[in-house]
Amino acid sequence: MKNLLESNIKKVMFKVASNTVMKDAPEHLKELMERAITNGRKTKEMPFLHSKINGSIWPPVITEEQLKICSTFQTSPGDVFLVTYPKSGTIWLAEIVRCITQPKKSSQENFPDPGTLRFEMASYEQLEALPSPRSIPTHLPFALVPRSKEHTVKYIYLARNPKDVAVSFFHFMRSSRLIDFDGSWEEFLQHFMKGNILYGSYFDHVLEWWTHKDDDNVLFLKYEDLKKDLKGGVKIIAEFLGYKLSKEEANAVAEKCTFQAMKSNPNLEVNKFSKLSKKSSHLRKGVVGDWKNHFSDEQLAEFNKLYESRLKGTGLQF
Ligand code: A3P
Repeated sequence: MKNLLESNIKKVMFKVASNTVMKDAPEHLKELMERAITNGRKTKEMPFLHSKINGSIWPPVITEEQLKICSTFQTSPGDVFLVTYPKSGTIWLAEIVRCITQPKKSSQENFPDPGTLRFEMASYEQLEALPSPRSIPTHLPFALVPRSKEHTVKYIYLARNPKDVAVSFFHFMRSSRLIDFDGSWEEFLQHFMKGNILYGSYFDHVLEWWTHKDDDNVLFLKYEDLKKDLKGGVKIIAEFLGYKLSKEEANAVAEKCTFQAMKSNPNLEVNKFSKLSKKSSHLRKGVVGDWKNHFSDEQLAEFNKLYESRLKGTGLQF
C-alpha cells in the first residue's frame, strides 16, 4: 500500500514536471509524453519507465493498441522499412534515405519527421501522412515488421557494434524524459546484457535480421562501415532503393549527413524539439569506439564472453 502510494505520488510529481517542460512542445510529442506517463511503469527490477506486453519489454509509449496498428498496417508498393535496434543510427539512416528520395524537401516539411517518428509509436493518420515513397523507421524485431505477398516492400537494417550501442543507449536512457532512468552504467549494462531492456536483447534482434541479409529485399548495413565511407554507403543505399545518383548528387547527400552537418541542421526535428531529452541533443558523439571510455576491465571481460557466445559462427562481427 505504502509502495503504491509512493509510486502514485512520484507519477504525479513527474507529470507536473513534464507538463512544465512540454508546455511549448508540438502536439505529437505531448501525446507521446502523456502516453508514457499513463501507460509506463517502473519496478524495482526494472527502474525505468517501460511497458510489458506478452512478456516483452517495450518503451512506455508502446501499448497493445499500438502493436495492433503495426500488425494490421497495410503496406504500399515502394514502402521501405528502416530497421534498427535502438541507438544504432536510426536518425542517421532516415536522413540519408530522405536526402536520396526527397532531395528538395527539408525535414521540416515532413513533419512529424520520420527521423523521430517510429512505426510502432505512430498513429494510422501519421503513417498515412508520410510522403511517398514512405520510409518508415522502426525498432521492431523481424517477426513484427509488416511484409507483403502482393508487392515488394524493402528493408534496410542498420547494425552497430553492441558495445557502442550499449553506451549510447545508457546515455539516452539517462537523458530521456520518456524513460526516466537514473541508474548507473553498471546497472544499465547488466540490464542490457540480460536483454532486460526496452526492445529486448540486442543479440536476438540483430541475429534475426542477419539471417535475412541475403534476401533480395533486404539491405544489411553496419554503422561502422557508414562512418568509414559515407559516400560509398550513400551509393549502396541509393542503388538498393532504385535511384541512380550522379557522383555529385551522392557527394551532396553524404555532405548533408555527416554528424556535424546533422547536428547543426536547424530543420531536423531532433534538433528543433529536443524537449523529450534532458540533454541538448540526440546526436551525442557519433563516433566508433566510445565504449573504451565506459567499460571497466571486468565489464569488458563479461561482455566479450557474451559477444563470443552469441556471435561466434554466425559470420557477424564488429
Ligand atoms: P551516440 O550516442 O554514440 O553519439 P538512434 O538514431 O538509433 O537513436 O542512434 C543514435 C546514435 O546515432 C547516437 O550515437 C548518434 O550520435 C548517432 N548518430 C546520429 N547521426 C549520426 C551521424 N550523422 N553520424 C554518426 N553518428 C550519428
